Amino acid sequence: MERRTLALLTSGGDAPGMNAAIRAAALLGLSRDLEVLGVRQGYVGLMAGDFVPLTRADVTGIVRDGGTVLGSARCPEFHTPDGRAEARRRMAEAGITDLVVIGGNGSLTGARALTAPEELGDQVLRIAGIPASIDNDVGLSGLSIGVDTAMNTIVDACDKIADTASAHGRTFIVEVMGRDCGYLAMSAGVAAGADLVLFPEAGRDDEQVVEVVVKTIESARRRALPPKRVLILKAEGVRISPEQLKTRVEDRLHADGHRGALVETRIAVLGHIVRGGRPSAFDRVLAGRLGFAAVRALLAGETRVMAAWAHASAPPPGARLSEGDPHCWIVTLDAVLAETARLLDGTSPLVRWRNRVFAEIESVLNPDA
Ligand code: F6P
Repeated sequence: MERRTLALLTSGGDAPGMNAAIRAAALLGLSRDLEVLGVRQGYVGLMAGDFVPLTRADVTGIVRDGGTVLGSARCPEFHTPDGRAEARRRMAEAGITDLVVIGGNGSLTGARALTAPEELGDQVLRIAGIPASIDNDVGLSGLSIGVDTAMNTIVDACDKIADTASAHGRTFIVEVMGRDCGYLAMSAGVAAGADLVLFPEAGRDDEQVVEVVVKTIESARRRALPPKRVLILKAEGVRISPEQLKTRVEDRLHADGHRGALVETRIAVLGHIVRGGRPSAFDRVLAGRLGFAAVRALLAGETRVMAAWAHASAPPPGARLSEGDPHCWIVTLDAVLAETARLLDGTSPLVRWRNRVFAEIESVLNPDA
């Protein structure tokens, strides 16, 4: 019988819940008599042969920890054929037959390249991905690990900011991570009761961004009822810097004859805070279920796939239901990365739908903006 060794790797920007995925994947592998190894520092460790055995004791208690116990890295060398050849050589040396890659868009692109048939030759190496990125920009998975925790962190921060903003009757522009994807800002904005969400998919240029912010502030101030504060959530993918936006908005408000608190705008850039902290209960469960689904797929002999999260009634196109879990689907990495590209260039029907929903939300929040 083939002796199988399963390696687990976390890569790219860490996301809360990665440890829960490591734990689930390791425990399932160990329970099926696989040798389980952790790869330190993502693809950097894969190229250096930096492998460490994982036992039940190593992973049992990590479910509640943020970050990743294996470490992570961004690794440009891995995107070269030579870098990947070195990684495959190290893996063959260590007897690794199966690899789980836990990460976002770039990490899954690396996973697909690592096992490209023309590079792999006759080496036995099965690979399965697990979407983990606070950006939620991985195609075909309704959610990635880390998004729920990040959203909760943003909402908590906005609630706090809203207290001081209300006390002074100020406007706050809060910038959140998400790279080129506006999902995090959009969903957190709804949950935080923001007056406006600026997200890249809306396609506004700088001037249009300034314009919609000014109109939103004027519209919110005209209303007799609270909010006494104006909260604007800006995705980092909207390229105008928060400082520039603040200056240009204040100048415009001045020019329109507003004075004092009506003009005063403050900014808060949440940055990496959004990526840290203990994973939410939901992220732990999501990570556990996706971790199981990915290893189950490998055990069944599948490769170049990803475990995806979707409601049973709306499976991703071409997906196969993961045995035993009505919300976990197995999709090919090719299909995932094709849809990811569409999400990012705006041609995915999902992006169009989000834009329509947000146009409607804006028109309800600021009817006269
Ligand atoms: O991809 C996750 C992410 O946190 C993005 O939201 C952000 O743009 C980027 O990583 C930040 O990267 P780094 O931690 O390398 O500065």
